[in-house]
This record gives sequence, structure tokens and C-alpha cells, in this order.
Amino acid sequence: MAKIIIANWKSNKDFEAVSAWMEDFSRANFDPEQVEVIIAPAMPFLTMARSLLPQGVALSAQDLSPFPAGSYTGAVSAHNLSGLVDYVILGHSERRQYFNETHQLVAQKVEQALALEITPIVCVDRSYISQQADAIDSNLLSECIVAYETPSAIGSGKNVAVSEVVEAKEEIRAVFGDVKVIYGGSVNDQDVAEYFLVCDGVLVGTASLEAESFIKIIARAQV
Ligand code: PGA
Repeated sequence: MAKIIIANWKSNKDFEAVSAWMEDFSRANFDPEQVEVIIAPAMPFLTMARSLLPQGVALSAQDLSPFPAGSYTGAVSAHNLSGLVDYVILGHSERRQYFNETHQLVAQKVEQALALEITPIVCVDRSYISQQADAIDSNLLSECIVAYETPSAIGSGKNVAVSEVVEAKEEIRAVFGDVKVIYGGSVNDQDVAEYFLVCDGVLVGTASLEAESFIKIIARAQV
């Protein structure tokens, strides 16, 4: 099964930096049978990324509105994103910490995404895997990809032990069902191969900001 590799740029990059990254990334060489590459730029760059990314690279939003299309000023709905993105990252720990997102809100966003055929990548820490799953409509759980992300590992250079990812994967599958489980938290090209052995892919923040280091991570997934 192809390994999922997501570049999450968070709120980084302006127009010029996105163009430069796209140009550098055009040199990437990968086999879609072995890797599913997904780029998650900030909202304003999604359209541009769609037109500049090579064929076979998927796009993800970093969030979407818990509400449908309508009078919700400032919100970006699943309807706005439909046809543009294939995936959406939901409930990232930074959204929970800085924007007070709750399990319930994340669950509402999962519903919105799936109604428009956008695959949700639901981020969880081990302390609330089952609470998050409980909040989501049980019929929708198996439609999610789940990212195991512990806040202390994010952006800190302190990625978690592979054994912990194995345990988290079991805990996630016990409640979400047979879903794809990926790991995120200070992943880099030196250690990513270990994670590929135990889970379905990685969510990469810092090491995705330079196309060069992201390309190296992709290379590690290909045997
Ligand atoms: P990081 O971010 O790779 O910079 O730790 C990962 C994430 O937030 O998913």
C-alpha cells in the first residue's frame, strides 16, 4: 500500500516562497504506487498549488468550517473546497490549543468534509483518542485517516519512539476501526524510514518547508 506523506506548511510562506518551492519540487521523482504525496499549503495558495503541482500530487486544506455553505463570514466551507482539495487536516493540536477546537467541533468538520467527498485526516494525541472517536458519527469513523501527533513532539526535534507509534496505532484502530494511521512530530529524512515500517505514512511540518528535505523524505518511502 502506498505510504502517505503530507507536507503541512501551517501559516508559513508567501506567494514568492510558494512559487519557489513548487519550482524546486518539480524535480521530485516518485512512484505513485509507492507514495501518496499530499501538500497542505495555507488556504490562499491552494488554487495556485493545484495548477503548479505535478500530476499525481494531492492537495489538502489545513482546516475547514464546521458549517455548510452560507452566511458564515470568513469561514471556508467544504463546499468552497470541493473539487480543489482531496484531503483536509482536522483537529491539529495547534488548532485545539490556539483556536480552542473541541472534539465536538472536529466531529462537525469531519461530517462537512465527508459530505463533499474530502477525506479528513483527524489528528489525535493518545490522551483523547477515544473521546475524539466517540464524538464522531460512528458510521464515519472508518472514512477517516488518523494522524497520531503528540504536542511535545511537534516542532521540537523530539520525535516519539517508534514503539509508541505502534501502541498508538493499536489504540486508534481499536476505536476507529481498520483506518490508515500516520505519525507526525519532528519527522525528518534521517528517522522517517523507521516510521514507515510501523505505520501508513507521516505528517511533516518543519522538514517540508524546504522542497529539498521533503524530497529526501519521499525518497525514503521508496524501496
Ligand atoms: P513538525 O510538525 O514536523 O514541525 O514537528 C508536524 C505537525 O505539526 O504535524
